[in-house]
Amino acid sequence: MNTIKDVKIIDIPKIIDPKGRGKLSVVEKNIIPFDIKRVYYLYDVPSDAYRGGHAHKNLIQFMIPLSGSFEVLVDDGTNKTKIMLNKPHKGLLIPKGIWREMDNFSSGAVCAVLASDYFDEEDYFRDYNEFKKFKNL
Ligand code: TYD
Repeated sequence: MNTIKDVKIIDIPKIIDPKGRGKLSVVEKNIIPFDIKRVYYLYDVPSDAYRGGHAHKNLIQFMIPLSGSFEVLVDDGTNKTKIMLNKPHKGLLIPKGIWREMDNFSSGAVCAVLASDYFDEEDYFRDYNEFKKFKNL
């Protein structure tokens, strides 16, 4: 697997109930390198759907597969790699300036995204060539 600088899987602390009542995971500010200003989530995604297809100028995101699984292609303009997210205690940190595409959503998949800022369409590159130009590539 190629590694893309600063894109990484972060382990989310997991508490396993000693009485067998399930698991609990918690994201506190100290496990991710930004303050959370927004949380959104994708759900009811058809299995043949494709999401993402953009990069952000400044936004940092932490993506968690709360339920089910999906794949995330991350691309810094030079290298790309595809990462399967399928454990609710492992999230993907996506720094600014990374193109991403998500597909292969399993039935019932829920993708939560913790974001470093409010929604701003101006922060998006939705055109891959514009993204490459911005990266001087
Ligand atoms: P988009 O970020 O393109 O979704 P994805 O990357 O999952 O395919 O957003 C889809 C639409 O939702 C787009 O019209 C913008 C809107 N949107 C908001 O209004 N607020 C938000 O916080 C987000 C993430 C999207």
